[in-house]
Amino acid sequence: MKKVAAIKEVKPVRELRRVGAHSHIRGLGLDEKGRAKFIADGMVGQTEAREAAGIVVQMIREGKMAGRGVLLVGPSGTGKTAIAVGIAKELGEDTPFVAMSGAEIYSSEMKKTEILMQAIRKSIGVRIKEKRLVYEGIVSKIRIAYVKHPYNPYVRVPREAEITLETKDDSLTLRVGEEVAAQLLQLRVRKGDVIWIDAETGEVHKTGRVCKEKRYDVTAYRCVEEPSGAVKKEKEIVYTLTLHDLDLSLAAQRVAFATLLGVPMSREIPSEVRQRVDEEVKKLIESGKAELMPGVLFIDDAHMLDIEAFSFLSRAMESDMSPILILATNRGVTKIRGTDIESPHGIPLDLLDRLLIIRTRPYNADEIKEILRIRADEEDIPLSEEALEELTKIGTERSLRYAVQLMEPARILAEREGRTKVTAEDVRKAATYFVDIKESIKYVQEYEEKFLK
Ligand SMILES: Nc1ncnc2c1ncn2[C@@H]1O[C@H](COP(=O)(O)OP(=O)(O)O)[C@@H](O)[C@H]1O
Ligand SMILES: [Mg+2]
Repeated sequence: MKKVAAIKEVKPVRELRRVGAHSHIRGLGLDEKGRAKFIADGMVGQTEAREAAGIVVQMIREGKMAGRGVLLVGPSGTGKTAIAVGIAKELGEDTPFVAMSGAEIYSSEMKKTEILMQAIRKSIGVRIKEKRLVYEGIVSKIRIAYVKHPYNPYVRVPREAEITLETKDDSLTLRVGEEVAAQLLQLRVRKGDVIWIDAETGEVHKTGRVCKEKRYDVTAYRCVEEPSGAVKKEKEIVYTLTLHDLDLSLAAQRVAFATLLGVPMSREIPSEVRQRVDEEVKKLIESGKAELMPGVLFIDDAHMLDIEAFSFLSRAMESDMSPILILATNRGVTKIRGTDIESPHGIPLDLLDRLLIIRTRPYNADEIKEILRIRADEEDIPLSEEALEELTKIGTERSLRYAVQLMEPARILAEREGRTKVTAEDVRKAATYFVDIKESIKYVQEYEEKFLK
């Protein structure tokens, strides 16, 4: 148990890197019978795929997905990644979700199988119960001080923060360093939120808000009781680490030891380390101190994986510690990488046999409009109704992603004119500055024809 306490300074289990564009997705938006509501949980339309995903969630909960996976197939921008995020959210806030692209296995630093192994271990959580010293209360004041990024002058990073926490009976002001300040920002902690901070590791958790009157709008936060007692107190908490976190901490101990002896260590994690971790975790589970939480490993552009990667994944799915594998692709029949064999979606048939395939279809204008409305709200971009119409038109004629990307430039153009609301004109202007892929290809092709012949 001591060992576990020493490695708690790891970050939350969700890999947020690639999920920014999907921060509005809070679930699959299904009713009690598993039917998709038109708009719910940040999801719009795509009814059948969402309902199918809901069935997968139930199968996962009932332990009937072991050894199986999901394949999302559909054109780009039809919500494949969004649905994978939705599945992970439905499984619980704590469920590890790791998103990667098939192309990421081609790295010069690590073997393909090592990259996949690490991704798999990142997507398996270990939930540990423990008593911890924490600061808990309602945020009554928060001030974050920034500095420029040490290497990148265009990025501001938090340096420190001052935060006052209150309960019915107590009040305490904390001054915290950059690590904690960064988490306050990432979690968007605001005045009125109820949070707690681990006194030892500085990990921040947002529990919800104290709601004075009943709210009926869709804004998603949990209403919680006003905390009482001292701000600084002992609390029984449950936290989740991933197998990869545990691998790293054990490997780090070895590296420190090896450096002492002058032995060079590779960046790959030795298999004995993983075995040791598995043994320790099994012991914790048997003694009732921990629970295993298989999460979701999402691999986008799965047709970029090669035969070696596919056979590794097939084998991994059979292990008793394996995450739910969700693959996505927009390819039809194509060659399996590393072979001359053609196969549906570039995936070997034996693996395809174990995948439930879900189709996502292109959106109509109404759906695009609602998705754009949600994204604008999420990014705090005030659009006029005409601007939303214009973006919807662009989203329908060009692509949803392109329309989403134009929002921020349009907001900047509006701001320069001293307006707070984005107009249709701002959107049109943004679209002349930034073009979509089709247009950029057309542009260079015209020049190729003129000059390169
Ligand atoms: N049904 C939906 N409801 C809400 N947002 C969606 C929906 N489908 C896609 N989006 C959003 O639109 C953008 C593009 O979708 P994405 O999931 O990346 O498509 P794909 O993975 O199929 O290329 C993302 O920001 C995504 O969150
Ligand atoms: Mg995607």
